[in-house]
Amino acid sequence: MVTKMLHILLVLTTLGADGESLRIVPAADGFSFIRLVHGDSDCAGRVELLHGNQWGTVCDKGWDLTDADVLCKELGCGLADKAIRRAAFGRGTGEIWLTHVQCSGHEASLTQCPRVLHSPRAVNGNPTCTHDNDAGVKCSGALLMPTLSLLSPHTVLSPGEAVRFSCTVVPGHHLNYFNLSTRGIDTPLMTQWVTFAQSRVEFTLSILKTTQQGSYSCLYGIKGISPSSSTLTSPPSNFINITVVELLTPLRWYNTSNEAPTGSVIKGHSFNITCFTEKQYPGGSFQLRLIRSNDTVHQSLPALTPAVTFSFSNAQLSNEGCYYCLYMVQLDGRTFMSRESQPLPVSIRDPDPVLSPMVISCLASALAFLVALVVVIIIIIVARVKLCKRQENPLALELETRTCVDNMYVALG
Ligand SMILES: *[C@@H]1O[C@H](CO)[C@@H](O)[C@H](O)[C@H]1NC(C)=O
Ligand SMILES: *[C@@H]1O[C@H](CO)[C@@H](O)[C@H](O)[C@H]1NC(C)=O
Ligand SMILES: *[C@@H]1O[C@H](CO)[C@@H](O)[C@H](O)[C@H]1NC(C)=O
Ligand SMILES: *[C@@H]1O[C@H](CO)[C@@H](O)[C@H](O)[C@H]1NC(C)=O
Ligand SMILES: *[C@@H]1O[C@H](CO)[C@@H](O)[C@H](O)[C@H]1NC(C)=O
Repeated sequence: MVTKMLHILLVLTTLGADGESLRIVPAADGFSFIRLVHGDSDCAGRVELLHGNQWGTVCDKGWDLTDADVLCKELGCGLADKAIRRAAFGRGTGEIWLTHVQCSGHEASLTQCPRVLHSPRAVNGNPTCTHDNDAGVKCSGALLMPTLSLLSPHTVLSPGEAVRFSCTVVPGHHLNYFNLSTRGIDTPLMTQWVTFAQSRVEFTLSILKTTQQGSYSCLYGIKGISPSSSTLTSPPSNFINITVVELLTPLRWYNTSNEAPTGSVIKGHSFNITCFTEKQYPGGSFQLRLIRSNDTVHQSLPALTPAVTFSFSNAQLSNEGCYYCLYMVQLDGRTFMSRESQPLPVSIRDPDPVLSPMVISCLASALAFLVALVVVIIIIIVARVKLCKRQENPLALELETRTCVDNMYVALG
């Protein structure tokens, strides 16, 4: 915290002094400060170290991206884009403090890296480094964005399938970890720790769940400038959307005329089979399958509403069988299909004889026939009674009446 405040103060002070944009941080190991000068931004420039009261430079012998990375991180400038050699940011003046800097990438400061203190004269009498060898850096400013790529062929998947990603950054930097995250969720889904200059990792979600549908991105972290400070994290990568298609088993029912017994439809009547699903996707459709004793027939209707009705206006024996509803949808060039609904058995019955119009008309004519018969008999009886009453002899009359009655019975029977 104090370091950071001091750092800001110094940057501001320096800016005020000569109008040049440069960055300074406190250093260690005999050096009090490190700064970048003559760069086109405050995260680029010639490297200078303050030792005692004298600013000096770093020789470019052995100066590479790993060294530049340590310095960029130390300066809060992200990672190095380039290690600059041959005094590309101008020749410095005064001492050349260091040469053959050999950072491993995990140091908190450039001054902690193994190096050689520069000696003005080499063994053969020539200086090993001059200000023509002054080292510089060009830092990214912020951490570079990683790239997330999909290794699997599809972005639309079924639960239980696997999906693979890779997360990549420009090579040559010492990173700590990569995280794979979903948008809107703070805790990362997966973390991979990296121990050397690894610039690419793979993430596999092996058994996708419907809850894992979402927008994926990755990021990476690097160690901060001091052991106490938390790791620096890159901005998130591009996002890749993953859709997990969950098709529920459809429900089904049928409606027909009220007089039909359960499970059956009366031949010639209309019936409707309705398929229903709770979860719909754009472009989905229902398929109605009829399994008959000899074959299977399919028909489809677009699922514009959760419930879709297949209408049959004139039930025939060919409509008899077991019906199943399926929900299906095409997404990302793949066809997703639900499980079959419970079977719906439909049997086609011949119309009930009592109620059929033909039977009714048949019955009506039978009734008319009976009525006509009764009328004829009554006429005959009346005629007979009149005839019997003409007999004077009571005994004969009684006998005759009985005979009439008997006759009548006989006639009716
Ligand atoms: C990355 O993952 C690790 C371990 O799960 C976690 O501690 C860290 O906070 C994550 N970083 C970010 C920036 O989410
Ligand atoms: C990914 O999904 C988000 C919503 O979660 C949406 O805003 C974005 O446009 C989608 N991106 C692509 C490439 O489909
Ligand atoms: C159709 O049948 C279902 C289930 O048998 C029933 O709930 C529904 O009310 C019926 N609809 C009509 C219009 O008769
Ligand atoms: C079947 O549905 C049609 C409309 O699609 C309707 O007119 C008819 O009355 C329905 N039949 C039965 C038996 O529910
Ligand atoms: C199967 O039987 C139905 C009548 O039940 C008939 O309409 C259909 O043509 C038959 N299909 C085959 C392949 O024989």
